Amino acid sequence: MTSFKVSVQDYDHKFPRFLEPSITGHYSINGEREFLDSDTHIKYYCPPSNPKHVFMDLKKGKATTSEKDSLLEEKLDNILQWILLHKHEAIEENKQRISADFICYRGHMTLLFCTPYENREDWKVAAIKFQHSIYLCPFRTDAKRKEILNQTERQREMGHWGYKFEQHLMSDSPNGKPNTEAPLNENEEFSCVFRSRIADHMLLYAAEVDGVADPIKGLKANNLVELKTSRLIENPNQDRNFKRFKLVKWWAQSYLAGIPRIICGFRDDDGVVRKIEEYETLKLHHIAQGLWQPNVCMNFCAHFFTFVKSVMKESNKDMVYVFSWRPKEDVTYWTEGRDSPYYFLPEWYMEEIFK
Ligand code: A3P
Ligand code: MG
Ligand code: MG
Repeated sequence: MTSFKVSVQDYDHKFPRFLEPSITGHYSINGEREFLDSDTHIKYYCPPSNPKHVFMDLKKGKATTSEKDSLLEEKLDNILQWILLHKHEAIEENKQRISADFICYRGHMTLLFCTPYENREDWKVAAIKFQHSIYLCPFRTDAKRKEILNQTERQREMGHWGYKFEQHLMSDSPNGKPNTEAPLNENEEFSCVFRSRIADHMLLYAAEVDGVADPIKGLKANNLVELKTSRLIENPNQDRNFKRFKLVKWWAQSYLAGIPRIICGFRDDDGVVRKIEEYETLKLHHIAQGLWQPNVCMNFCAHFFTFVKSVMKESNKDMVYVFSWRPKEDVTYWTEGRDSPYYFLPEWYMEEIFK
């Protein structure tokens, strides 16, 4: 089989087994996008005092923001660095293998989860089988690159609002207060490394997380919060789009990191948050009223992993498989060699990992 079909009906059956994601490690990325083996950039959630009546201007303080380069492709380097520094967590005892079938970022899996419901954005995921594990790395498609290059000043400004919202509701220290005057560096992040399993696929993946809810409970998946912003909903069309397209992405992103709560700042067109709502991740599909279903997302992802495993039976670190999908089409793949622009496993990793 060289391709497979994507349709909602095909995946609308019983839930696959899913092992609740648990945190096995963490790291930070500093303002220069350098890896830090520490929790330097962890944040703590500070709930709003009056969530129904808010006037939070996300445009304020823009002059001190260091923007993230949205064309930057870092490949898998950060999680690979974490693995090298934490071999005892990643490698099976006395064995030359990482205890995971797939190694990737949570963002890749969010992409896969949402595929049956996606009708606009295509994707391209490169895969390399090194020893027993398959490493997955998405690459920006031409359409996505064009979209980024064609962004208007207004779109770029709106892109900052999400980060600013985080600054309003997060502090750097447990029980601290948010400091919305501080320079905002969008490059900084705190990420956790998770273990989970979907059907019979063992997974190791890293995910950027927004913050910890209760400092006393510590760093556990069920003690994390995800922050979002969204346009205030004023008509049925906006309501449907929110439920149909946004909630499925929010659900997939948080569900895959075991994050139970999503805090959304609803803003006007002028970047002012007017109310803040809290959502329970596990109830989002009820709010979406059948416009998407978790079992479909999960079965599709499990099927994709099964397909990838079936075409990548042999370990071959000199070959990269590129899986690609466009809305309304099948998932297909081709292979390339070490000189391919899709090749992404660095020599420093392959040389060191099993030493
Ligand atoms: P919103 O989530 O409020 O849109 P995340 O929500 O995943 O923690 O990301 C935080 C913020 O980063 C987003 O806020 C948004 O401003 C920005 N962001 C994340 N992914 C993005 C993307 N693909 N393109 C542009 N901005 C993005
Ligand atoms: Mg985030
Ligand atoms: Mg967020």
